[in-house]
Amino acid sequence: MSHASDSPRTPRAKTPRSSEAVVADLMMPHQANGLRRPSVFGGVIMSMVDRCAALSAMRHSGGQCTTLSIDRILFKEPIRVGELVEVRSRVVHVGRTSLSVLADVYAEDIASGVRRHTNECWLTFVHLDGEGRPAAVPPLLLETREDRSMNELAVRRREQLLAERH
Ligand SMILES: CC(C)(COP(=O)(O)OP(=O)(O)OC[C@H]1O[C@@H](n2cnc3c(N)ncnc32)[C@H](O)[C@@H]1OP(=O)(O)O)[C@@H](O)C(=O)NCCC(=O)NCCS
Repeated sequence: MSHASDSPRTPRAKTPRSSEAVVADLMMPHQANGLRRPSVFGGVIMSMVDRCAALSAMRHSGGQCTTLSIDRILFKEPIRVGELVEVRSRVVHVGRTSLSVLADVYAEDIASGVRRHTNECWLTFVHLDGEGRPAAVPPLLLETREDRSMNELAVRRREQLLAERH
């Protein structure tokens, strides 16, 4: 006997935890900006964030996803050459075809072991079918209080984005 939830049209819900992704890299001299006291070029961090968040979107949707928007990226403090940068992301909200992903960036001074939370970024992806058309994503199962609170924030951000849509 088959249940509606087993059908390919109504895929099983997935938790934010199941879409967690990590991208980490040691920052090298060629990734520095041109400041007198060089720090890591912002575009390097943005690229890592986009790749990590795309992995989360792909894990949740089970297929290809394209970046619709990078809603916010705030550089709170510089990241230095020689530090380890780690991006951690997860899907925190889904619409019909879109996914909101929250990514956190950490910088670690390897010698001292001091780890700082340097950035928080919100991104929106759209799941695409084989023909490149927007396609439905599985529902999101909110397990924890943290899941619910991030989901509420994502809903508000999405409403704001949609209100600004031309
Ligand atoms: C992403 C893309 C396929 C969406 O196309 P579209 O014609 O807007 O598709 P739709 O109208 O069906 O919208 C798809 C989803 O995006 C959401 N969306 C579209 N425009 C939006 C906006 N300005 N703000 C927020 N959400 C938006 C829709 O609400 C919908 O989500 P839902 O199904 O969960 O409700 C298209 O904009 C595109 O190809 N953009 C280029 C992507 C790209 O090149 N990225 C960089 C490389 S990865």
